[in-house]
Amino acid sequence: MFFGCKNLSFKYNEFEVLKDISFEVNKGEFIGLVGNNGSGKSTLLKVLCGILFADKGEVIFQDKLLDEKSKIKIGYIFQNPENQIIGVTVEEDVAFGLENTGVPREEMIKKIKWALSTVGLETLEKADPNTLSGGQKQRLAIASILVMEPDIILMDEPTSMLDPKGRSEVHKVIGTLLSLGKTIIIASHHASDLIHVQRIIALDEGRIIYDGDRKTFYEKNILPIELPFKEKIMKEMNLAFENLVNELCQ
Ligand SMILES: Nc1ncnc2c1ncn2[C@@H]1O[C@H](COP(=O)(O)OP(=O)(O)OP(=O)(O)O)[C@@H](O)[C@H]1O
Ligand SMILES: [Mg+2]
Repeated sequence: MFFGCKNLSFKYNEFEVLKDISFEVNKGEFIGLVGNNGSGKSTLLKVLCGILFADKGEVIFQDKLLDEKSKIKIGYIFQNPENQIIGVTVEEDVAFGLENTGVPREEMIKKIKWALSTVGLETLEKADPNTLSGGQKQRLAIASILVMEPDIILMDEPTSMLDPKGRSEVHKVIGTLLSLGKTIIIASHHASDLIHVQRIIALDEGRIIYDGDRKTFYEKNILPIELPFKEKIMKEMNLAFENLVNELCQ
């Protein structure tokens, strides 16, 4: 198995938040993780990258249990990029994760430049992260994870604090990451974040209630999640068309 989990359960104190979660993820897949507030999305992502430990079950990466060494290959992007920014300048922020990894300085500089240009922040390397826009901060958070060369990137509502411009900046970066072969799981309530996902996993009160293709998820109205604009219009048109046919055939 490339990545996934088997029979995961997780409790905060006595409160069971994740209940018997199992799924497999293929390399290069782009998956949307959806569910109402409190359904366990953030908790699941944190267990999958090893920030939190499951009470039961296992997280698997490349056929082995996730451990201290392999968890470096799984990056987690917080909902609020402020939680992730530590450097005084943009490049220092990206450098942070690489320090103490034994990467030679020359190599480090190359990696930082690559990560910043991949997210389109190459001209802002000397800037103070506090002066960046919301979209730029989120892209900086992505660069700081990307520099560690993760195979899998877990994004926790990466656009929920952004305006449409910031959101589309992040969408563009997600496209680039996918073209680099990264595997992405994105937790989101935003229809626009889910337009290009191939698969949706839906949680309800800590259980998986759907795991399948995106089209069926919307067609079956599994969760009251707002439809993307195109699907919304198509659904209205189909309904209107069906009503018209019914009337004509009466
Ligand atoms: N640190 C914590 N201590 C105790 N309970 C917590 C903690 N973090 C989350 N919870 C509870 O666990 C449940 C799942 O929370 P989680 O944040 O994983 O949900 P979510 O699906 O990410 O929600 P949202 O859409 O609001 O981000 C909620 O009932 C929440 O109150
Ligand atoms: Mg959450």
